[in-house]
Amino acid sequence: MADSTETADLRALDSEGMLDTVLALPDHLRDALWRIESARLKPMPDSSAAIVCGMGGSAIGGDLAAAAIGDQLTKELLTVRGYELPSWAPAGAAVLCSSYSGNTEETLACYAAAEALGAGRVVATTGGQLADSARADGVPVVGLPSGMPPRAAVGYMFCVAAELASLAEASLPIRTEIDAAASHLENRSEDIQARAAEIAGLIGDAVPVFYGAGLTSPVAYRWKTQVNENGKQPAFSSPLPEASHNEIAGWEGSRRRLACVLLSDVDQHPREARRFEVNGDLIEPHAAAVIRVKAEGVTRTTRLLELVMLGDLVSLHLAARHGVDPSPIEAIDALKARLGAP
Ligand code: PA5
Repeated sequence: MADSTETADLRALDSEGMLDTVLALPDHLRDALWRIESARLKPMPDSSAAIVCGMGGSAIGGDLAAAAIGDQLTKELLTVRGYELPSWAPAGAAVLCSSYSGNTEETLACYAAAEALGAGRVVATTGGQLADSARADGVPVVGLPSGMPPRAAVGYMFCVAAELASLAEASLPIRTEIDAAASHLENRSEDIQARAAEIAGLIGDAVPVFYGAGLTSPVAYRWKTQVNENGKQPAFSSPLPEASHNEIAGWEGSRRRLACVLLSDVDQHPREARRFEVNGDLIEPHAAAVIRVKAEGVTRTTRLLELVMLGDLVSLHLAARHGVDPSPIEAIDALKARLGAP
C-alpha cells in the first residue's frame, strides 16, 4: 500500500523547479541541437580520438553519448574526469571541455592540458573562467542556458558530446535520432512519470544499487549520482557482466537493506540479458526489492534518454520521500569551500 510520502507533491520542497527542468528534457535536446548548429563548429577529421573532459553532471554526457553511438563508433570517445589528460592522448585529439558553471577546477586544468597537447578544443558552458579563456583563445563555445543545477543540463551535455564524436569523424551525426527521441519523450512523459513513482515506491527506504550493461551502464551510474545529489541518499551502481563475478557474492550479507535495480535493454547481448535474469533471481532473497526496468524504443538514443529521464524522476520521488529539496548540494559546496582555490 502506498504511504503518504510516496504520493507527496514533488513540488513541495522543490525550491528551484528541478521537476520542471527534468520534464523539459525534450526541449533541452532540441535547444541543444540549435545551439550547436549556431556555434558553427569546424570538423576535426584528423583527430585520432575524441575526449570529453568534465566532472559530475557535466561529464556524464560523454559516457551517455558513447553508449548511444555504441558500435557505430570508429574512434575512441573517452570521458576524462580529473585534472589530466591520459598519457597516451594524441596531439591531434578533439577535446570537449564541458563545465556548466565554467569554473570547475579539474575541467579548467584539462582545458590547459589540451592546449599544451595541441588538441583541437571545443567548450560547452554557461560562462565562468572557461568561457573567458575560450573566448580569449579563439576556441569555439557552445553557450548553454544558465539558471539550472548543472546535472539538469544532461540533455545539453549529451548532445554536445555526440556532436564532438561527429566532428572528430568518430561517428556519423545522431542529430536525427536525438530529435526523434525528443518527440518520443514528450509523448511518453506521463507514462514515464507514473513508472518513476512506482519504482521509487519499490525502492522505499532501502539503499538502491543500480546495475546496467552496455547501453545501460552509464545510465546506472547516472541513476546513482542523481539519487546522491537530488535525493541526498547513498546509492551505488555497477556494470554487468563484471558485477556477476564478484559483487553478487556480497548480497548474501546485505540483510535486505539494499534494493537491486536492474536496468536492461531490449537489444542486449543474449548472455547479458540472461545474466540480468539470473542475477536478479539470486539477489532476490537478500534484497529489500528487486526491480527490473527494461529500456524499449526504436533507437539506442531513444532508449537511453528515456531511462535517463526515468531515473531523474525516480531521484526526485526519493528526495520527496526523504523530505529533502533536490536542488541544493550543501556537501559539495562545503567541500569546494574547504578546498579553496587551486
Ligand atoms: O550536478 C552537479 O551540480 C555537479 O555534479 C556538477 O556538475 C559538478 O560539480 C561539476 O560542476 P560543473 O558542471 O559546473 O562543471
